[in-house]
Amino acid sequence: EQIEKGGYEHFMLKEIYEQPSAIVDTYRGRMLVDKGMVRMAGMDDNIERFVNAKRILIVACGTSWHAGLVAEYIFEDFARVPVEVEYASEFRYRNPIIDENDVVIAISQSGETADTMAAIKLAKSKGAFVFGVCNVVGSSISRETHAGAYTHAGPEIGVASTKAFTTQITVLSLMALKLAKAKGNMSNTDFHYHLQELDLIPGKIKKALEANEHIKEVAKKYMNAANFLYLGRGFNFPVALEGALKLKEISYIHAEGYPAAEMKHGPIALIDENMPVVVIATKKGHYEKVVSNIQEIKSREARIIGIVTEGDTDVRSMSDYVIEVPDTVEAFTPLLTTIPLQLLSYHIAVMLGKNVDQPRNLAKSVTVE
Ligand code: AGP
Repeated sequence: EQIEKGGYEHFMLKEIYEQPSAIVDTYRGRMLVDKGMVRMAGMDDNIERFVNAKRILIVACGTSWHAGLVAEYIFEDFARVPVEVEYASEFRYRNPIIDENDVVIAISQSGETADTMAAIKLAKSKGAFVFGVCNVVGSSISRETHAGAYTHAGPEIGVASTKAFTTQITVLSLMALKLAKAKGNMSNTDFHYHLQELDLIPGKIKKALEANEHIKEVAKKYMNAANFLYLGRGFNFPVALEGALKLKEISYIHAEGYPAAEMKHGPIALIDENMPVVVIATKKGHYEKVVSNIQEIKSREARIIGIVTEGDTDVRSMSDYVIEVPDTVEAFTPLLTTIPLQLLSYHIAVMLGKNVDQPRNLAKSVTVE
């Protein structure tokens, strides 16, 4: 096992550090930056189904569902197609309205999740075209779907999903770009620019990982908090959910993810000087709005950990700690902002002496209802 961990203390840490190369493995051979094209057999062979889809429905569970939420923002922004994201476990039990004009994307690291499998079978029975995004080659879900794309992240052993999440977002981004191009929703210049930006992401993740020692300090400071709040907006709202899930899973600290602007509709009542609030506030999209959300929380004495773009000064001046990530196009910021959140939950769990790779009550793949 020590050899398999490749010198890292835990599989989770190894997998966090593998993300730059895992993402290269995901887009290698698919993203042809020089030629300005995305090649993906499962989509190329069925491009009409995608182009004519009235709607894309994404079904998944847990972290894969969070990747689906990020994809909702990306598909709608790039390809201008309505997207709905469903928990597979809810979808299967609510007599959903779905037909042959729908494309269903099922996301699953393991490819064995029982609820996702049941949702796929239901969607197929209603005539929808079902596309799988799985990591495990030859898994049940990859065999049950009409077509699909593997994430090629390599084995993920830690129960807390890390590299599966970022590689799922990578595949889904490539799919959204491809569809945008096929539908004529994105100019060639813009398309090319996004390919180039995606190509830079692995290097930028490496940069984000350099904050590890600083993140350890933040972990040490807040490891004894009873509750954490994670806030984000737009593309980074799902990242807030994912950050909170990571902390819950491995440290057993109660954490909630919330869209930053929803705070004032309830959760703000929870805030006092004992509540660490992790706010994703990159210099894109809703930056000004997030800054004013931070002001609201600050005035309630919360401890603020800002996830910011390199060189940021506004959020820094309001935060107890900031963790920087490199700049990129808004749609790809989740690939960077998620890195410090993975490391933060990892270090807190290690400091609390928890079993990081095999947390209590959890299995790597949930093959029962
Ligand atoms: C993530 O950290 C989890 N352990 C869990 O939520 C997981 O993402 C979920 O069970 C879905 O698994 P899958 O991707 O293998 O279908």
